[in-house]
Amino acid sequence: MKAIGIVGSPRENGNTEAITRHALTAIGEEGIETELIKLANLDIRPCNACLTCKNEESCPIDDDLFPIYTKMKKADAIILASPVYFSSATSLLKALMERAGYLAYNNGRPFERKVGGPLVVARHAGQNFTLAQITYWFHILGFYVPGSTYWNITFGGNKGDVGKDLEGLATVWNFGKNIAFLVKKLER
Ligand SMILES: Cc1cc2nc3c(=O)[nH]c(=O)nc-3n(C[C@H](O)[C@H](O)[C@H](O)COP(=O)(O)O)c2cc1C
Repeated sequence: MKAIGIVGSPRENGNTEAITRHALTAIGEEGIETELIKLANLDIRPCNACLTCKNEESCPIDDDLFPIYTKMKKADAIILASPVYFSSATSLLKALMERAGYLAYNNGRPFERKVGGPLVVARHAGQNFTLAQITYWFHILGFYVPGSTYWNITFGGNKGDVGKDLEGLATVWNFGKNIAFLVKKLER
C-alpha cells in the first residue's frame, strides 16, 4: 500500500510541503508506504489540447509530467497540496491536474476507487475555494475523498508559519489518518 503527496508549491521547504509531510507522517504511522513529490523546479506545462491522450495513453509534451502520472497510477492514495495563489491552486498544480486528469479520464480511468484529497494553505484568504477546486478533480476521476475534523485548510504566509496553526495541523493529521483507514479497508 502506498500514498503519495504531491506538493504544488514552486517554493521548496514551505508551508505546503510542511502540511503534506504532516499528513504523510500520519499515514506512514499506519504502516502505509509514503512518498512526497515536489513539483518545485520541475517542468510541468499546461495541457495544450492536442487531444493525443484521447486515443492513446501518452502526452507529446516532453516534460516532467509522465513519470509523476505513472507514480499516481501505482499509488493507492494521492494527496494534492497547494498554496493559494490569487484564490486558486497554483498554475503548477493545475497543469498537473489538467494533464494527469485528462490522461486518466480518457484511458481506462485508473484512479477509480483510489483514495485521495486536497490540502490547502494560504496567508489569509482563498482556502475554501481552492479546496473545492481541487476536490472537483478528485470527484470526477472517481476517487473516494475522506473528510477530516474540519476542512483541510491551513493558515501560513512566510515559510514555517503554518506550524503555528495548530487547528489546521490537527485537521491535516486527522485527514491523513482517515486516508490510511480507507486505504486499509479497500485493500485488495
Ligand atoms: C503569487 C502569489 C499569490 C498569492 N495569493 C494568495 C491569496 O490569494 N490568498 C492568500 O491568503 N495568500 C496568498 N499568497 C500567499 C501564499 O498562499 C502563502 O504564502 C503560502 O503559505 C505559500 O505556501 P508555500 O510556503 O508552500 O509556498 C500568495 C502568494 C503568492 C506568491
